Amino acid sequence: MEIVIQPTPAEVDSTVADIVEGYVRAGATTLGLATGSSPIGTYRELAARHRDAELDFSLARAFLLDEYLGLPKRHPESYYSVIRSEFVDHVNLDPAMVSSPNGEAPCPEKEIARYDQSIAAAGGVDVQLLGIGTDGHIGFNEPGSSLTSRTRVKTLTEQTRIDNARFFDGVDDVPHHVLTQGLGTISDARHLVMIATGEGKADAIAAAVEGPLSAFCPASVMQLHRHVTVVIDEAAASSLK
Ligand code: F6R
Repeated sequence: MEIVIQPTPAEVDSTVADIVEGYVRAGATTLGLATGSSPIGTYRELAARHRDAELDFSLARAFLLDEYLGLPKRHPESYYSVIRSEFVDHVNLDPAMVSSPNGEAPCPEKEIARYDQSIAAAGGVDVQLLGIGTDGHIGFNEPGSSLTSRTRVKTLTEQTRIDNARFFDGVDDVPHHVLTQGLGTISDARHLVMIATGEGKADAIAAAVEGPLSAFCPASVMQLHRHVTVVIDEAAASSLK
């Protein structure tokens, strides 16, 4: 596992953008996209490179990590909508090549199987961007998630609903359930890139990187992966030994 500590969030964003750019410039690539606030600066940086430096996404495709169950696609906080407004609308990545779990599927059980199959049929993910929850979740794999889990329905913890209330009118509007790639699904990606900034993420980063491998810190599954880059600022690194 490579850990890159940068002085500022802006340098975190440009380091992660450099990694993604390498894959995109190499030719057809499959990106794994995270939502939430952590990758937003990276997406802005990639959009700037598309605009100013001919970074061409026309051969790329992408899969999202997760989606709220029951939230309509058109809702501004559905991850389907968020990834479009924050990233896809600003680059030449074909929206039809951006896949996400369908939170409105009438049969979630069929949908989760379909989603895992569609990732496999695309040949898997080359580079997966990840944020981390304050409780150590990745995707929406909350503490207690099996390290080998596949895409499935999960219940959000109260802490995650409180953390995500800032995107909604209040915590009561945050859905209780999600569809999320499992820890095993995420680990199938060939390169995992974790992004974290700010002191609020410091304990989660320390547990993920230096703590025991444990389902109670889902992000610790990264310790089993052969190609991981953790890109953090000094504040998020402040609990590392
Ligand atoms: C979102 C996701 C989550 C977030 C995590 C951190 O697709 O997978 O695991 O990455 O909740 O969220 P932020 O970045 O908003 O702190």
